[in-house]
Amino acid sequence: MQHEGVVTLEDLLDQIHRHRGINLRSCGREVVERRIHGRMRQMRIESYESYLRLLEGSSDEVDYLLSRITLQASAFFRNPAVFSLLRERVIPKLAAVDRQVRVWSAGCGYGEEAYTLAMLFAEAEPWGERAPPEIYGTDIDARALEMAEAGRYSKEATAPLSAAQLTTYFSPEPDRQTVVYRVVDRVRAMVRFALHDLTTAREAPGGGLFDLVCCRNVLIFYTGELHDRAQDLVCRSVAPRGYLCLGPTEWVGGSLRFGVRRGEPDGPALPAVRQWGAFCVGEAIGGGRSCTARGPGP
Ligand SMILES: C[S@@+](CC[C@H](N)C(=O)[O-])C[C@H]1O[C@@H](n2cnc3c(N)ncnc32)[C@H](O)[C@@H]1O
Repeated sequence: MQHEGVVTLEDLLDQIHRHRGINLRSCGREVVERRIHGRMRQMRIESYESYLRLLEGSSDEVDYLLSRITLQASAFFRNPAVFSLLRERVIPKLAAVDRQVRVWSAGCGYGEEAYTLAMLFAEAEPWGERAPPEIYGTDIDARALEMAEAGRYSKEATAPLSAAQLTTYFSPEPDRQTVVYRVVDRVRAMVRFALHDLTTAREAPGGGLFDLVCCRNVLIFYTGELHDRAQDLVCRSVAPRGYLCLGPTEWVGGSLRFGVRRGEPDGPALPAVRQWGAFCVGEAIGGGRSCTARGPGP
């Protein structure tokens, strides 16, 4: 039983954790606090206790809050070092594969990551007789996917892009008093967006295996069974000799199978990966197999 004035932010986070298995305590506290306060202000709710009551009685509110907290934290070329690694070491290998390459951005939010990958693959053209890579962007948030599909971004959102990237892969469109940048059709055509929940789906989108799976800053939200299910699906979906790319603070059980040991330069890491100790980017040694075993943590 909670009493007026005693309910804390942690109580709200615990409520969400109990009901959805999503652990927001592992996210940046400042961001979480700001988003919750913003929502409370919007709803004219003044105490955590009242907001907790609302969350207990409304799963729509929990969904809405979750989407506000877990979204918006993406960007084109987020953690640029990761994308340099992909551009220099991973994409050339995939570009040499004699068939259509398959890529999955799992938990893609507004689509920046999926389009970043598409731009990198577009740079690696020509694809000759082969079809260009097929890139899936999936998320549990239908509204975010709609925006991703539209592929229209504000000037601020395009800030991480170079002038050349902006000119080549976007076209400016007037929008009221301002301008938005739309991903060009050639790049949009490489990406398919779909609703997909990593914690409940039995298969990756479209089925089959992927040569590169980017699942960044998604697994951190989960603990326990939901985390295990999501990480198992992610691992099972990487093709033999395929690549897995996680966020800077993420780890999957069985990561050794991916040839990556975060923070252990002498571990069985790929030469290309060693210098990127802070990021889990690894080549799947087995691939397409389950990884239910819990690996060494970060
Ligand atoms: C912080 S964003 C990360 C976006 C992008 N991957 C990046 O690193 O910039 C987390 C995204 O994961 C999505 N997400 C959370 N749980 C998910 C799940 N069970 N299945 C698929 N996507 C999920 C959220 O909706 C959100 O769009």
